[in-house]
Amino acid sequence: MTSDGSNEPLQSRAVGESQVVMARQMMPNDANPWGAVHGGTIMKMVDEAAGSAAIRHSRCRVATAAVDYMSFLHPVQVGDLVTVMASVNDVGRTSMEVGVRVEAENMLTGTRHHTSSAYVVMVALDEQGNTVAVPPVIPETPDQERRMAAAKVRRTQRKTLQAMLKRSDEDHAPPAPVASDLVQARQK
Ligand SMILES: CC(C)(COP(=O)(O)OP(=O)(O)OC[C@H]1O[C@@H](n2cnc3c(N)ncnc32)[C@H](O)[C@@H]1OP(=O)(O)O)[C@@H](O)C(=O)NCCC(=O)NCCS
Repeated sequence: MTSDGSNEPLQSRAVGESQVVMARQMMPNDANPWGAVHGGTIMKMVDEAAGSAAIRHSRCRVATAAVDYMSFLHPVQVGDLVTVMASVNDVGRTSMEVGVRVEAENMLTGTRHHTSSAYVVMVALDEQGNTVAVPPVIPETPDQERRMAAAKVRRTQRKTLQAMLKRSDEDHAPPAPVASDLVQARQK
């Protein structure tokens, strides 16, 4: 099933059709007692912007499957205007990698810093919560092509890591109890 509810091939969408820009001034309840904004405040804005870009691309509900490589490069202060830019870098069958860039501006001085970047994997869902196929995405600029190529590398890396962790878990799983262990346990 596809995100438009049919089994027809989905119409491709350009990256620019779903890009999102969100901005909000940081308030005291976003920060610690010394006025530095919590990482979690920024993470929530990143998740919301990535979700909106993914919904606009797929035109259906989405769930956050993973957030990779979230970095905090510069502190954000109460009063700063935080701008979050989200763009669908690449799609799989039902998942979308959304690249997010965060900038903070001191509105009194005009000083602006790149404060965070993250890659968020969003999965498209139907109304029953089942995963659904999403439309292909078309890069239209050299930057969008570069981001798509990098997203494909990260997708391969995620799958390799997941497979390695699964093998490691299996290798370290406790041995299944044998019949004599069960008899001993019952006798205790
Ligand atoms: C995300 C979720 C819907 C995936 O469901 P699932 O049954 O594992 O689905 P699948 O195994 O078919 O994977 C679906 C897609 O998600 C991708 N995916 C699943 N888990 C992933 C992970 N941890 N990291 C990256 N991609 C992931 C798969 O690669 C697949 O992509 P593709 O279709 O483009 O190839 C499910 O794990 C879920 O509901 N998680 C909770 C989401 C949530 O509540 N988020 C909010 C945070 S509290």
